[in-house]
Amino acid sequence: MKRKLAAGNWKMNGSRAALAEFDAMQPGVTDSVEMVICPPATLVATAVEKAGALGIGGQTCHVKASGAHTGDISAAMLKDAGASYVITGHSERRTDHGESNADVAAQSTAAWEAGLVAIICVGETLEERESGATLNVIAEQLAGSIPDAATAANTVVAYEPVWAIGTGKVPTLEQIAEVHDDMRAKLSDRFGTEIADGMRLLYGGSVKAGNAAEIFAVPNVDGALVGGASLKAADFLPIAETLGAA
Ligand code: 13P
Repeated sequence: MKRKLAAGNWKMNGSRAALAEFDAMQPGVTDSVEMVICPPATLVATAVEKAGALGIGGQTCHVKASGAHTGDISAAMLKDAGASYVITGHSERRTDHGESNADVAAQSTAAWEAGLVAIICVGETLEERESGATLNVIAEQLAGSIPDAATAANTVVAYEPVWAIGTGKVPTLEQIAEVHDDMRAKLSDRFGTEIADGMRLLYGGSVKAGNAAEIFAVPNVDGALVGGASLKAADFLPIAETLGAA
């Protein structure tokens, strides 16, 4: 059975004190729901110690395992710190750091080589949405960002419309369904039905306890990648519980 996934991306937020939130998140982890928190790199090792039933992930990784790359962190280092996941290709990385699909693919390969699961992110801008280019943009990102060696076990795909991130704006359920159906079909064409069906497809962008139930009822949505509402157990636990009930 495919375990659903509630993943939290803390972005550049959080402190050691904030890890105390983990205690109250524990009940969200069940046989059918996995919970992962991706804190800033400074907190990964401590987060692993306090994780309990939660999984811990990084937010990006360098393509190389080590070397003269000041300020960067490798997938091997995240693994060494106890992480099991890493987000690759988040739109904030693509925008702030100019990461291309090829960069994201190389990072994802580095993640796998280190033994991490890659949460590979795709998503259209508002301009792309309004010009009707969404499905083409997503198809191009999937083709360019997911390496050929992807499996259901080593890869999670997150659809995060850029315009829905941190804005409180959420696509209609029909729009989410259209993209998720198309992603599943494209993945199936490329990797075969078994791998594509086993791969978890997350929706991300302004997911809250209040809209989680309707989003999780959309076909081909296997969980969420949550930003702001993952920082506090009072917000994140209800999302995970809603996922369990979906
Ligand atoms: P918000 O949930 O804050 O909109 O962020 C979504 C996101 O970017 C998760 O990676």
